[in-house]
Amino acid sequence: MKKIGFLATALAVGVMISGGSAWAAGDAAKGKKVFKKCAICHSVKKGKKKIGPSLFGVAGRKAATVKGFRFSKALKKSGLTWDDASLDKFLEKPRKAVRGTRMAFGGLRSKKDRENLIAYLKTLK
Ligand code: HEC
Repeated sequence: MKKIGFLATALAVGVMISGGSAWAAGDAAKGKKVFKKCAICHSVKKGKKKIGPSLFGVAGRKAATVKGFRFSKALKKSGLTWDDASLDKFLEKPRKAVRGTRMAFGGLRSKKDRENLIAYLKTLK
């Protein structure tokens, strides 16, 4: 029963998040629109923190290394470096990819959205 409850929740969350996911392939301009979901918590300006750390230069960076931001132990210990694969996995389900992360975001279920978003994140340098 517990498992069914979990699946139902996951499905409900997924449906909420996937609303409006008609993007075309890996395109930074489209990714910039997807980023609106992140912008409440993340700035793209260097050194500017909000609820989350600045995402300036995030591609290729080691996780949890932005100075002046207090990361969770979980992310510090994750040993991740942000590349296409690790970002894709993290953005799909943050709390599953890094158990104990403080990033309170359900995840992006649409692979297209994630591809576009990652293309956009790579322009932030
Ligand atoms: C509700 C606020 C919130 C939202 C929405 C959010 N994040 Fe985060 N994000 C955080 C917090 C807080 C952290 C730090 C997590 C930790 O320390 O465990 C974080 C961490 C990250 C990291 C790791 C940064 C690093 O330097 O290691 C990435 C990458 C990231 N977020 C990307 C995104 C993207 C892309 C989106 C939009 C799809 C998003 N986040 C949405 C709050 C948020």
